Amino acid sequence: MPFDVRPCRDREEFHRALFAIGQNFAGPPPDEMLDRWILLHGLERMHAAFEAGEIVGGAGAFTFDLSVPGGSLPCAGVTVVGTYPTHRRRGVLRAMMRAQLDDVHARGEPIAALWASEETIYGRFGYGIASWAGEVSIPREANAFAAPLERRGQVRFVSAEEALDLFAPVWASLSEQRPGVPSRSETWWQTRRLRIPDEEKGNPRRFVVLDLDGATQAYAIYTTKLGFEDGASTGKLEVLEAVGVTPQATAEIWRFLLDVDWMATVRVGLLPPDHPLFLLLATPRRVRYRMGDGLWVRLVDVGAALSGRAYTGDGSVVFEVRDEFCPWNEGRWRLAGGAAEPTQELAELALDVGALGSAYLGAVSFGQLRDAFRVEELAAGAVERADALFAWRPLPWCPEIF
Ligand SMILES: CC(C)(COP(=O)(O)OP(=O)(O)OC[C@H]1O[C@@H](n2cnc3c(N)ncnc32)[C@H](O)[C@@H]1OP(=O)(O)O)[C@@H](O)C(=O)NCCC(=O)NCCS
Repeated sequence: MPFDVRPCRDREEFHRALFAIGQNFAGPPPDEMLDRWILLHGLERMHAAFEAGEIVGGAGAFTFDLSVPGGSLPCAGVTVVGTYPTHRRRGVLRAMMRAQLDDVHARGEPIAALWASEETIYGRFGYGIASWAGEVSIPREANAFAAPLERRGQVRFVSAEEALDLFAPVWASLSEQRPGVPSRSETWWQTRRLRIPDEEKGNPRRFVVLDLDGATQAYAIYTTKLGFEDGASTGKLEVLEAVGVTPQATAEIWRFLLDVDWMATVRVGLLPPDHPLFLLLATPRRVRYRMGDGLWVRLVDVGAALSGRAYTGDGSVVFEVRDEFCPWNEGRWRLAGGAAEPTQELAELALDVGALGSAYLGAVSFGQLRDAFRVEELAAGAVERADALFAWRPLPWCPEIF
């Protein structure tokens, strides 16, 4: 290995490892940022790459559970990966990915997940696109719903302290409903979603809840930016997160957001393609949905990952998995009765571990992967059988980039 890679041992090392990604857009992380990161992330999950004793790269991982079809699994939430610009394209990232994935494997986390800054980086390390996410921008004149909505609840503002108690159960409900949702600790809420960053001090994010039938059934976090041009409002409302536990609650919180006065546009990112908003709106074409890759997933332990999610029906399929970077996964796996075991049976589908990661949460079918030459069908009907097994609705949704 050309570079030594190991977990950070102290604050100073963490500082320099974190600054590897920061080099591209910010100054050295200030003290309070470092405090937050160390608190949430832990020193030991930040790997640093060393050359002659100097840190030249950093790669972090959050510890959380990720919801998967029918349950949830321990997951490494890969984050703040960066190489110092002075050392790029010399194998620093490769060395860090090696050390990090070995560590994830040793910890017994069957999957890793990340948001990719560029979609060309992580495929070579076995990650595959596992969810779709997109942004919409809803002009005020196109914000009507297709069907009348009876508003039965009441929206109210809450403080960050109240939000901590009230939002968490709604988030837990989302993770029961959809794959792709990371669990959030109290520290996560406090240091990320509910924290008011310095640049928002003058006009901080708002926290609202929807009370319906005696319970908090939805919440939203949003910012507003006022503007007028030629006497007409050009205000923008940015939805950072809006989640409801039922379709009624989701519709009601969205109606609230769309109706805030003075806002010419409401923008939201990271929506999955099957989000109810598209069919709630009378004119969904006007929102100009721009969809891209969302969460990338890597099966670190193919057997445990496949056995850790639920399936539809009781079919079986034999995979031939290629995994150059994590060879312990290589070989034939038989998935039957909800469990995956190594097998000597003839393979029916051959694919890279990244393609299996793409299919894992249900966002990408084996038929799609076959048509893009990412899966070889070795036995007639195997793609159809695998798709019947893996099919899962609703689609995965990860509402936050980490
Ligand atoms: C992305 C980044 C970490 C890559 O680090 P690096 O140390 O230059 O990467 P390596 O030299 O280890 O490259 C490993 C392989 O990935 C390829 N690669 C690395 N970055 C790439 C990129 N941005 N696009 C395409 N290929 C890339 C290399 O060509 C190399 O390919 P090979 O295995 O076929 O030889 C670095 O460019 C960086 O810090 N970018 C800015 C921050 C960022 O985007 N971080 C990712 C956050 S999700």
